[in-house]
Amino acid sequence: MATAPRLRIALLGLGRLGQIRARILAFQQPRIELVAVCDTKPGSDVWAANNLPSSLKFFADPEDCMRSSGAQAVLISTATATHAPLICQALNFDLHVMCEKPISVDVIATREVVEKAASKPHLKFLVPFSRRYDNSYCATKLMVENGSMGEIHAVETMCIDQQDPTGFFVTFSAQSGGIFMDMGVHDIDIGRYFLDVKSGLSDTRKQVNRVMAMGQQAIYGDLKKYGDCDNGWGMVEFANGKILTTHLGRTATNGYEGATRVCGTKSHAVIGGNSNLNRVEIRDVHGVRTMSTPDAFSLYDTSFINDLAEFAGAVLDDAPMTCTAEDAYEAGKITAALQYSFRNGVPVYFDDDGMPIMQSGKTASQGNGHLEDTTNGVMKGLTKGLTNGLTHGH
Ligand SMILES: NC(=O)c1ccc[n+]([C@@H]2O[C@H](COP(=O)([O-])OP(=O)(O)OC[C@H]3O[C@@H](n4cnc5c(N)ncnc54)[C@H](O)[C@@H]3O)[C@@H](O)[C@H]2O)c1
Repeated sequence: MATAPRLRIALLGLGRLGQIRARILAFQQPRIELVAVCDTKPGSDVWAANNLPSSLKFFADPEDCMRSSGAQAVLISTATATHAPLICQALNFDLHVMCEKPISVDVIATREVVEKAASKPHLKFLVPFSRRYDNSYCATKLMVENGSMGEIHAVETMCIDQQDPTGFFVTFSAQSGGIFMDMGVHDIDIGRYFLDVKSGLSDTRKQVNRVMAMGQQAIYGDLKKYGDCDNGWGMVEFANGKILTTHLGRTATNGYEGATRVCGTKSHAVIGGNSNLNRVEIRDVHGVRTMSTPDAFSLYDTSFINDLAEFAGAVLDDAPMTCTAEDAYEAGKITAALQYSFRNGVPVYFDDDGMPIMQSGKTASQGNGHLEDTTNGVMKGLTKGLTNGLTHGH
């Protein structure tokens, strides 16, 4: 009996998410064969040898891995600053690419990557935003699409990390691009997913009218020097009048919380309102309690399986994918604009080409962050200089 073809994948990056991905690829994907793993960090080969099948090849150099592993596709799970160059390199090797969010914290670099992927239409390119692959979000999407919730006019999201007594968030901030770009990109993406942001537009290039962001350093005061906050609020007004609001935070004490309220004219749906670990309720002197999820990896654990299955189906069967490259680009523009808005204390409007417009001449005192560089009216090269390998759990 002939065996069904499987997608040969090489995984780049064996950090916190990469190790989760490696186990899923090796043991939980019937349509995928993990042929190689790669990480530049010393000792990664030992982790791979101890945790993955011995048939796997290990590479310390990603280019070597792409050239010699025999893979048809790569999953890029490396530090954010390496995504854009690795995606381009993989496309040049004629490999299909799945890459963790974000493509880049730089809007122009993101657009260049998206254009490069579009120039290779025979190759699949996926940036999987985890909430789209979560079963509860999928169930809500079905209700949105079948019209039972009426017209979806607004989405409210909340995403709050557990407090970290080591102050990791502060050093991380120097590299992350800021809370709106690093964490908020998921919230912006899921808002766009539910809001049908192109409906009613004669020109879909301009999907956003304006954004406004505010924030505070409630616990981690040193974030201010990086133009970052530990609690941030963003508002997005889309060109067709739909509204998205988000609260992003690093200061929850119970665990990680991620919730979304989808507001329709006939009903609202609240997903993850109580981000509980399981269905157990503890009843004691404090009342009725549930255990909270510690982090995003636990809350969206099945997403990291579902998105890989979709990617395999896209390459092997030419099946459609849930996220497009354009989605990643649009979300990236909005999060960059929110980060700028917070740092400068100004609203950011979008031009007719759909690019966020900068205002110059603001001072640090007008925002709660620090002064952002401005260039010729349009946001360019925002937060260039992301060089270190630090990332966080989103
Ligand atoms: N829900 C989500 O979608 C989600 C969740 C967590 C992380 N992420 C994203 O996944 C990426 C990885 O996050 P993480 O928390 O695992 O980071 P991490 O810092 O723990 O791991 C990154 C790994 O990449 C390796 N690396 C760096 N440059 C490399 C290169 N050029 N070639 C090969 N290996 C290289 C590092 O040595 C490190 O082991 C980030 O971009 C992050 O934004 C997405």
